Amino acid sequence: MKKLFIASITATLLFSASAYSNVSSHAAPAIAASCVGCHGADGNSVVPNFPKLAGQHAAYIEKQLKDFRGGFRKDATMAPFAKSLTDEDIKALGAFYASQPAK
Ligand code: HEC
Repeated sequence: MKKLFIASITATLLFSASAYSNVSSHAAPAIAASCVGCHGADGNSVVPNFPKLAGQHAAYIEKQLKDFRGGFRKDATMAPFAKSLTDEDIKALGAFYASQPAK
């Protein structure tokens, strides 16, 4: 199960790296597919435990992801997802969710 999880993360990362060249910064980055289950396809999560990201400021989203990644903000659920993100992923995710209307 753990191996499968790591394999799927790796596949997502490989895919996202190749997708960057022709995707505008406001299109959903491929890596966002790993966030859908909790935060919704457009960042409007439907479960109260998972914060809405849609319409949030890009700079705020970027800071939170970097804080989770660096261990400054601690959350056992979010940390593993943030750890696999590159600076480019974080920038693209911030721009994407900031451009989505909050519902
Ligand atoms: C398994 C569920 C889950 C997945 C998958 C997930 N998150 Fe989260 N996320 C959470 C939870 C829970 C929190 C709230 C953590 C806390 O209470 O500090 C959170 C918080 C956040 C925050 C901070 C929001 C705020 O208002 O401060 C950001 C940004 C975020 N997630 C982005 C992402 C991104 C980008 C991905 C995909 C790479 C992702 N998350 C994947 C569960 C998840």
